[in-house]
Amino acid sequence: MSYDFTGQVAIVTGSGGGLGRAHALAFAARGAMVVINDLGGTRDGGKNSDSTSLTAAEKVVKEITDLGGRAILNGGNVTSEFDMKAMVDQTMSAFGRIDILVNNAGILRDKTFSKMELVDFQAVMDVHLKGSVIATRAVLPVMQTQEYGRIVMTTSSSGLYGNFGQSNYGAAKLGLIGLTNTLKLELFKYGIRVNVLAPVAATRMTDDLMPPQMLELLTPESVSPAVLYLCGKDAPTGEIITAGAGTFARAQIMESEGLFLGLDATPEMIAESWNSLSDMTTAKPYQQGSDQGQKFITNAFENKV
Ligand code: NAI
Repeated sequence: MSYDFTGQVAIVTGSGGGLGRAHALAFAARGAMVVINDLGGTRDGGKNSDSTSLTAAEKVVKEITDLGGRAILNGGNVTSEFDMKAMVDQTMSAFGRIDILVNNAGILRDKTFSKMELVDFQAVMDVHLKGSVIATRAVLPVMQTQEYGRIVMTTSSSGLYGNFGQSNYGAAKLGLIGLTNTLKLELFKYGIRVNVLAPVAATRMTDDLMPPQMLELLTPESVSPAVLYLCGKDAPTGEIITAGAGTFARAQIMESEGLFLGLDATPEMIAESWNSLSDMTTAKPYQQGSDQGQKFITNAFENKV
């Protein structure tokens, strides 16, 4: 199977540096026309006094065009509906279609939950979760009309598994999986597939979080093949791929088969049965929420309630 994106248009938010830059270069290397979106800014979402990040985004555009590719710069903020609509208009004027959206833009404001100001919780939710919602809503009419689209959300191990000091970030990142679980159902009929990437890479977001020997292996470029895979013509939908330092894996939310304890079950009965009802050896993922409800009702019927 080959992954040729010639003639396709990819928007990568936050692609002025780090992972977004690597994804954009990887798409361009395989023929895609790319929109380099980045508002510039510091790691915590503040303003760069010297606007270095916008320069970084301009550099990514130049890197692509110097190699013979096609790329345009967009300085929009993913949290602004106005900016994202303008980005779509700019993309349509320049390239005439939108095949791919990679929601990658992100900020960090780490603090333990008890010390975190609500404003820091909100800012992180706004960029990661609401920003992905706003960018996705902006491209959707185009993708629906085309009856083709590939959307990637960027989650994190912090969302999947937790990370000390990242309650805001983890909540926003897991929210993106909840969003994807429904979008995969609603958008499939339009030829739009929505998947999730959980990367680990050495970027400015992680440069003080890991030792140099680890950072050397965690190249952003080694993550991008997962994004290209999720944006191919034969992409799955509703999947979560984890990627870092050359390893790729699938993450899934699963539920144990469980145990019917009766409509008059007590907490004591749950405690006594915990080992068997929590047994994950026969756990299954569900396609949609109602599959779980169906299990409950089937169990009740089978037990002649
Ligand atoms: P980064 O800080 O190098 O890149 C993020 C980019 O997003 C920056 O260029 C920034 O200017 C841009 N950005 C921030 N707010 C924006 C906004 N409102 N509108 C437009 N652009 C905005 O960080 P990195 O590591 O490349 O992160 C990329 C994505 O991957 C993020 O969503 C991050 O949460 C996620 N991620 C990264 C991990 C890692 O190990 N580096 C681990 C797990 C997830």
